[in-house]
Amino acid sequence: MCGIVGYIGEKNAVPILLEGLSKLEYRGYDSAGISFLDESTGSGQLKVIKREGRLSVLESAIPEGTSARLGIGHTRWATHGVPSFVNAHPHFDCTHEIVLVHNGIIENYRELKEKLLAGGHVFTSETDTEVIAHLIEEYYEEDIEFAVKAALNEVKGAYAIAALSLRERDRIIAARMGSPLIIGLGEGENFLASDIPAVLKYTRRIIFLDEREVAVITKDEVHISTFRNTRVEREPVTITWDETMAAKDGYEHFMLKEILEQPRALQQTISQYVCPDGKFSFEHMDLGEDTARELNRVFIIACGTSLHAGMVGKYWIEQFCGIPVEVDYASEFRYRSPLISERDLAVVISQSGETADTLAALRLSAERTKHTLGIVNVLGSTITREARHTIYTHAGPEIGVASTKAFTTQLAALLILSLHLGKLRGSIGRHELTLHQKQLSDLPQLLETALSMQERIEETAKSLAGYSDFLFLGRNMNFPIALEGALKLKEISYLHAEAYPAGEMKHGPIALIDERMPTIAVATGSHVQEKMFSNIQEIKARRGLVAGIINTGDSKAREIMDFCLEVPETQEYLMPLLNIIPMQLLAYYIARDRGCDIDKPRNLAKSVTVE
Ligand code: F6R
Repeated sequence: MCGIVGYIGEKNAVPILLEGLSKLEYRGYDSAGISFLDESTGSGQLKVIKREGRLSVLESAIPEGTSARLGIGHTRWATHGVPSFVNAHPHFDCTHEIVLVHNGIIENYRELKEKLLAGGHVFTSETDTEVIAHLIEEYYEEDIEFAVKAALNEVKGAYAIAALSLRERDRIIAARMGSPLIIGLGEGENFLASDIPAVLKYTRRIIFLDEREVAVITKDEVHISTFRNTRVEREPVTITWDETMAAKDGYEHFMLKEILEQPRALQQTISQYVCPDGKFSFEHMDLGEDTARELNRVFIIACGTSLHAGMVGKYWIEQFCGIPVEVDYASEFRYRSPLISERDLAVVISQSGETADTLAALRLSAERTKHTLGIVNVLGSTITREARHTIYTHAGPEIGVASTKAFTTQLAALLILSLHLGKLRGSIGRHELTLHQKQLSDLPQLLETALSMQERIEETAKSLAGYSDFLFLGRNMNFPIALEGALKLKEISYLHAEAYPAGEMKHGPIALIDERMPTIAVATGSHVQEKMFSNIQEIKARRGLVAGIINTGDSKAREIMDFCLEVPETQEYLMPLLNIIPMQLLAYYIARDRGCDIDKPRNLAKSVTVE
């Protein structure tokens, strides 16, 4: 939510800031703005150019020849104050000597604002952010770093900020508490951003700023210290992602590119953890045999798509390890009193590794058990630094707001975790393990086959795009797949979609069925397939249209369905990884037919760093 960039060096900062923002637009796109020390007019003033709306609006507002060696930028996902010009960042203090961008929420902004208003400060926006600029002004004499720290000591909430001062023209001040910030190191130049893709074109040497840290970034140096002035030495990490991985590569949308990348992403996940000799190798996880054997329960906690992956993981862990698993929305888990104790394993799943609720759930779990594990995509993100163990999903950068390859790689990671735990606990024998590993290694090819149905799914989407309500059904480990399919459709096409376990139909939802509400049903081969068929017949008897996800060549399933979305056959426990493919493609093509802005759906942002 909200993206921040910064640049200091010898190059023109303006195009670098704009380009960085374009890579962060997935974090919010209500407004965009930059601030820089203006060289072009010779004024040397701190200039702000900002606009309501997409980055493209801002780009066209920037006069030709604008140049600067230092600047910060922001793309907004509105929390306090409507999307508008005045509420767009960056924000000035009263003197226009300090300018600031912010990602997060300042919880005590009302009281701070009242105090500042009483002290004579004049506000121009409705944002919570502006209070920080004025607070810094209060403390600013000659050291902007001191003033920022003093101001932040009064602020409660979650934030990442970047600030410039007209009087200290050789530095950017950045700080974080609860929202991500990374520093990209260059030669004679340095970069700042909310996320890695924004700097990938220039550097892969990254420093991750930690909670309650402030960085003073000049063109040649980065000094990090805590809010309490303790100096921090931190080595940069060289990350393996490159710029092309975060580029659209000729595809119409990131979402389509990322859907089609799934076989490769999955291959990457599997090859990281399953060695050719059949052993597992985990770089950041060392759950020993004793711990695994003594585990009482597993808690899986996440939000959105990551939660749906966790729901599938429950079936696998219970099946392969014989440990009971509880799955919880992070936003619910953190506000109840979960009965989690020292012999429980808390698994948090997050693509970004920054989701506020998931992070809070991790912290709560860590107070009660030392066995915490993050399944995360983004390298070095907060969850990976706070969880005791990490399994990276290695999906590569996911830019499309609707999560796709992150989901399938989370599934793969959960499956690998289940098999590994099963092995450690002795609930899976060597022979069975080898078999599972072989089946797992066949998956990328099967995914490829599932994706080859793309054109047929595009056709089906045309027939379905005119409906406004959808029901998604699945049973057993395909129920979470139905949930995920419905979520994909909702978020990118703005159509109403509900998902249920098919057995629940008769307990209420069947009342919705008529010829205007199509059902998308997962009906691939499984021990509950016949039950699924019965549920589908019940829908058809009520004139409901059914698009079935079925195995290629399943003639019985074919006969029942109005539309068939085919996937290849494999072992039942692996089918969720294939069944999600037609769901993703269907949602994508329906949204495209409806002319929706697929990579930037309204009201959403990819990384939800506020509650
Ligand atoms: C949906 C989607 C979201 C995220 C959720 C959690 O397509 O992307 O539901 O899954 O916001 O995000 P992470 O996984 O980053 O914690």
